[in-house]
Parts: sequence; C-alpha cells; structure tokens
Amino acid sequence: MRTKLVAGNWKMNGSLALNAELLKAVRAGKAAAELAVCVPFPYLAQAQAELHGSHVTWGAQDISAQAQGAFTGEVSASMLTDFGCTYVLVGHSERRTLHGETDAVVAAKFAAAQSAGLIPVLCIGETLAERESNITAEVVTRQLEAVLAKSGVAAFANAVIAYEPVWAIGTGLTATPAQAQDVHALIRARVARDDATVAAGVRILYGGSMKPGNARELMQQADIDGGLIGGAALVATDFLGIANAC
Ligand code: 13P
Repeated sequence: MRTKLVAGNWKMNGSLALNAELLKAVRAGKAAAELAVCVPFPYLAQAQAELHGSHVTWGAQDISAQAQGAFTGEVSASMLTDFGCTYVLVGHSERRTLHGETDAVVAAKFAAAQSAGLIPVLCIGETLAERESNITAEVVTRQLEAVLAKSGVAAFANAVIAYEPVWAIGTGLTATPAQAQDVHALIRARVARDDATVAAGVRILYGGSMKPGNARELMQQADIDGGLIGGAALVATDFLGIANAC
C-alpha cells in the first residue's frame, strides 16, 4: 500500500515573514496524506525550525552532483542533511530547460542525493511539442532510463518519481486524469520491467496546475500516488485542500 505524498515546490518564492505564516498554517493543518515542502536553500533553517517534530517533512529543490569543493554557488547533498531535509527535487523541468540540465546531470544528482541519505524526487515529463509529436512515452522513458542505468532499479525503493508534463506547469492546463494515468502506468511498467516489487512500492506523483478542485479525480487514478504542487503550495488552504483530496 503506497501512502499518498503531497509535496510543495515553492520554487523561487517566499520571504522570512511570508514563510513563517505559511509553515505554521501547514503544520497546523490536518491532512490525509504525507506532507512535504521543498523550499529555497536560504529558508531550509527556517523550515527546520518551524516543522521540526511535526508531521510535515521538508527538502530542497536542487543539489549539486558534486560532494564538495571548488564549485561556486553549488549546494551539496550533505549540506541538506545538516538541515534535516528528507527530500530533494532533481531534474525539475525548470532546471532542465532554463539551466541546461541533461539526463546525465540529473542522474548524477539523483545518485548524489541518495548517497547522502536523501530521498530524491525525480521529475520527468514531456514538453507540449513532444506531446504533440506523440513522443511522450519515449521522452519519459529516456529520462527514467538515464537514472535506472546509473543507480539501478533498487534505488527506486528509496526514491519518488514526479510526472510533470511541462505544458501543464504554471499554465492552468492540467493533464486529464486519464492522460496522467496513462503516463504514470507506463512509468510504473518500465520500473516493473526491472523489478516488479520496487515498481509496486514506488510513489509516482503528478505535478502541473494541481489545485483543490482537480486533485480528487487525479488522486483517484490507480497509479497516481500524490502531487508535486507549485503555485497552490504557496497558499496553505489550497495546499491542505489538495492533501485532503487524497
Ligand atoms: P504548478 O503547480 O504551479 O503548475 O507547478 C507545478 C510544478 O512545477 C511543481 O514542481
């Protein structure tokens, strides 16, 4: 039985004052799912202080593939563990598109996260042009296989996958429950080809304009195990509303 996970990706939003309110409200909320927030690096200490001892876990939105050294501006996996992080996003489409992260870079970050004891949330998904060219399955499979090739299927016993169609991120367009379920099923089937037990246990989140109003139908799909929430994660009632749709 997979426990539903609803994770907020705050992206580059927040301030000490706004975060304090949001974190307190999320902490105080009742949720039918596991809750996590992935905050900007400078706010990890604040998330740790506000959420420590609560049912809400926290994490970051990216990490370096390197362990330490002369990598100006980078943040290592072990630094995240110093701040009590549970999760870290790797391969978010904004990193792939705006920062040129290749499948190989993402696979290296996934491995770096796991070697420090973090749970990577591997983000994969196709662009609108790729969907319209009917290559969604190829794209998502290629992104997944880069990580399977480097870390092996057993690594997915301690990882989360997030399917985020790029065309649905921040656009108000959501994949229909059937569209999302199709891709989630193919992701799980690809993992099952290597190990059926790992595939049955791995959580696959949906991300892309998820809101309280569309969450229930998405969450009801057999292979959707929660959500990775952008905009709606910045409003406590929306974030908790999504979690309670589980
Ligand atoms: P939105 O929920 O704002 O579409 O963002 C989704 C996302 O990118 C989460 O990682």
